[in-house]
Amino acid sequence: MSEYIVSVVYLALLGLNLCSGALLNVTLDTRIVGGEAVDIKSHPYQVSLQYSNQHFCGGALVTRNTVLTAAHCFGTSYASMTSSYVVKFGSNTTYGTGIQIDSVLVHPSYSSELLDSDIALIRLKSNVTISNSVALIRISELSSYSPGSYASVTGWGYERENGTISDVLRGANVPLTSESECQKSYANVINITKNMICAGYSKGGKDACQGDSGGPLVQKNKLIGVVSFGAGCARAGFPGVYTNVGQFMDWVVDNSNYNRNNSADTAYVGAAQTNCASFLLGILTVMYCILFA
Ligand code: ARG
Repeated sequence: MSEYIVSVVYLALLGLNLCSGALLNVTLDTRIVGGEAVDIKSHPYQVSLQYSNQHFCGGALVTRNTVLTAAHCFGTSYASMTSSYVVKFGSNTTYGTGIQIDSVLVHPSYSSELLDSDIALIRLKSNVTISNSVALIRISELSSYSPGSYASVTGWGYERENGTISDVLRGANVPLTSESECQKSYANVINITKNMICAGYSKGGKDACQGDSGGPLVQKNKLIGVVSFGAGCARAGFPGVYTNVGQFMDWVVDNSNYNRNNSADTAYVGAAQTNCASFLLGILTVMYCILFA
């Protein structure tokens, strides 16, 4: 009987730990253009890409040494000067801790004219240290989402068209647009492909903007999009366009150490919730055994 008590107490402590992690990891719906200042602790996967200490794009940590970003942040001819590139993380400002870039892989199908397959992988020279302001995000396995459902976009980009880089991290919640609606919006501008998803209000007002590129569009603790392009920023009738990352899962797996099956890794945002749920199930089983076995 005493072993039971010990194991129940042990499990309870473990569970408390995991569950408090889950509570801390719950993303606050904080309300870029039309957004508001948000805390890196709620978006700990967000990074700033910098060249000579100048922020030029956002990105998202998907493994301890891999950042997912937009291909157009580097272009097709990226090669030299790797030492001038640094990825900064864990800070509300763009002055966080930095790690140098080891290499960049731009998707082979990326086209700067069609803006299709706008995705790139950055390998860092060393691993980030996970903390309450630095964590990884899982990539969505889906590639289509309910129109009207909300997703959060974050970054240090302009607060208005022709603005300047923001001193602090900002975020906005935007509703996803259906594929047909987005195609209609951009009919005379560019072809919206299956590799893109769109988000924004038809009346405009909230959107990503210059400097947010490469940054994360997140729904339910999963990375669903990467900031790609838009006609201006937050204009009525022109939603923001994002790379549909679910379409590139195989490419990411083939070209990085991302593992599609390790969602229990507590370095991932939201992993604690999953662990918390399995803990609760575990403790119920133990109690059942003690009482009825
Ligand atoms: N291409 C821009 C950049 O390099 C991002 C544009 C996003 N625009 C938008 N309206 N959602 O930062």
